[in-house]
Amino acid sequence: MTYAFGDTDLAARRLALLAETFAPSSRTFMVEAAHTGLRLAADLGCGPGYSTHLLAGALEPAHTVGLDNSESFLDLARATASDKVSFCCHDITTGPFPSGPYDLLFSRFELTHLQHPEAVIELWGRQLAVGGRLLMEEVEYIGTTHPVFTSYLEIQQAMLTEQGNSLYIGPVLDAVPDPAALKRRSSNVQTAPIPAERAAAMFRMNLGVWRHNDFVRRTLDPSDLDDLESALAAIESGRSAVSSVEWGLRRVVMDRVDP
Ligand SMILES: C[S@@+](CC[C@H](N)C(=O)[O-])C[C@H]1O[C@@H](n2cnc3c(N)ncnc32)[C@H](O)[C@@H]1O
Repeated sequence: MTYAFGDTDLAARRLALLAETFAPSSRTFMVEAAHTGLRLAADLGCGPGYSTHLLAGALEPAHTVGLDNSESFLDLARATASDKVSFCCHDITTGPFPSGPYDLLFSRFELTHLQHPEAVIELWGRQLAVGGRLLMEEVEYIGTTHPVFTSYLEIQQAMLTEQGNSLYIGPVLDAVPDPAALKRRSSNVQTAPIPAERAAAMFRMNLGVWRHNDFVRRTLDPSDLDDLESALAAIESGRSAVSSVEWGLRRVVMDRVDP
């Protein structure tokens, strides 16, 4: 299935901003949830590689692989490869993953875009060595009462729902039963307050990508989307005082066990 948020230059720039925004909280999650001294780790759905380098820097595995199925994101990622970090084209909903088994798998903002999370998590578990660990970080909620932000989020949620996905996949992830080969160690929600200017910038870039989506074109007037884009740009510029937006991030940690 096509990744709804695209892999254009604009989509890559949005992922750079997203990565910068969430790097501190994701780094804390990695350091608290995993050990150092790992042999091989993978970042599932690595995009241009920001989350892969975050993982490599936080836990310093002997080697870290970023897996993605977008060649244009991988072109950007490969330009940053090193002897400790490499990138590989792979559909992460199919196994086996290249170079496995892994000691650690990390996925961030990924299950929102995939179908059948239960089956996908089961597959990911089978790519781990026994004793290996799976770290997942997904959106539980995005808390805001500002009408511009709520309009944007309603459209995005409707678009994802139409293709069988959910923006707020965190509660689904929390409720997924443990697959036979995995045992849940923890599931909790951390909050990350993001300044309104930064949230607006990420939303405006994403709107620039998904406004061309078939569902959005069929159901929304382009002039309404132009207005939404302008309203986001005004918040981004800091001209209007808007409260920060609170992301709730669901973090689930599972260990590979002998089934
Ligand atoms: C929201 S981005 C997250 C990027 C990165 N994990 C981060 O947090 O910065 C989702 C990524 O998943 C990739 N993706 C979507 N479906 C995929 C699939 N079936 N196999 C591999 N990659 C996939 C997209 O190309 C995109 O790079």
